[in-house]
Amino acid sequence: MPTELPLLDTFGRVHNNLRISVTDRCNIRCFYCMPADNVQFMPRKDLLNFEEIARFVEIVAPMGVNKLRLTGGEPLVRQDLSCLVEMLARVPGIEDIGLTTNGILLAEQAADLYRAGLRRLNVSLDALSPKKFREVTRRDGYERVLEGIEEAKRVGFNPVKINAVSIRGITEDEIVPFGHFARTTGCEVRFIEYMPLDADNAWERDKVLFASEILEILSREVAPLTPLGTQPPHAPATDYEFADGVGRIGFIPSVSQPFCSQCNRFRLTADGKLRNCLFSLEETDVRDLLRNSEDNAEVRNAVRESIARKWAGHQINSADFVQPDRPMHSIGG
Ligand code: 5AD
Ligand code: SF4
Repeated sequence: MPTELPLLDTFGRVHNNLRISVTDRCNIRCFYCMPADNVQFMPRKDLLNFEEIARFVEIVAPMGVNKLRLTGGEPLVRQDLSCLVEMLARVPGIEDIGLTTNGILLAEQAADLYRAGLRRLNVSLDALSPKKFREVTRRDGYERVLEGIEEAKRVGFNPVKINAVSIRGITEDEIVPFGHFARTTGCEVRFIEYMPLDADNAWERDKVLFASEILEILSREVAPLTPLGTQPPHAPATDYEFADGVGRIGFIPSVSQPFCSQCNRFRLTADGKLRNCLFSLEETDVRDLLRNSEDNAEVRNAVRESIARKWAGHQINSADFVQPDRPMHSIGG
């Protein structure tokens, strides 16, 4: 039970969901997230160590934070990640730990992660065609991702969800195969509208393939889809099921129907900055406080101040939109 006041912002949103980026490094190079080459990674000394991350979680858990998700870059390139999972799973009040991975290293690590207490797993996979996979990620690895998904299911992860960024000119041919994939594997496939967080600043609204279009194609060419009766109130995804009960599809219409008014999330970057929104243009440093002070009250105040400054929502759909300097791989998604 929380023992302190909840993390409320000025719009009345309660923040119980913390996303922790553990590295900005990645073993592939998705174009919507990273530049093709010459990526400037954070120096290792700037990264929070596991003790610092766990201390931060111990500080925010009494404020009502009960849900965590580890992200990257690619979180599985961080050495001994399952040790961090184990440390976080022991923090009183933490009820749920998830991980978003590109799946390349998943086959090797799935069993350890499950043993450490991880239960929710999202695998980013934008294409079921190996050629398209390479076009998006600019690297090989398609087979390894599929092996990773298989192994994750085998060791007990349930559900394993697939995240596919939906991009006009890329995703269209993948929609029907993903529909069948969801039906045959039992993995929910979630289509996430492409957001302006790419390192190359090449995002344009015209490049977003909207959730409504995908829903229409799946219903017509695979089988009718019906929305699930009960949707968790703070989930960004709207979940659907094929009418015969076989296979689930989710949509995260972050551009066409932002869920900002329901947002319960904040983020800790690998270098110890708090971000109260994916798109925020300012950050609050907590690394110095965690490194140089024993006083948890200072960290608590920094968190409350960051949440208090949160905007109503992102401005993607406005002419005033300014893309943050940090591309997705150093925010964590
Ligand atoms: N737009 C939408 N989704 C993105 N992701 C990464 N970059 C973008 C973007 N520009 C996705 C990843 C991952 C999740 C954390 O966010 O594919 O699944
Ligand atoms: Fe790596 Fe994920 Fe970014 Fe792709 S989206 S480059 S897998 S961090």
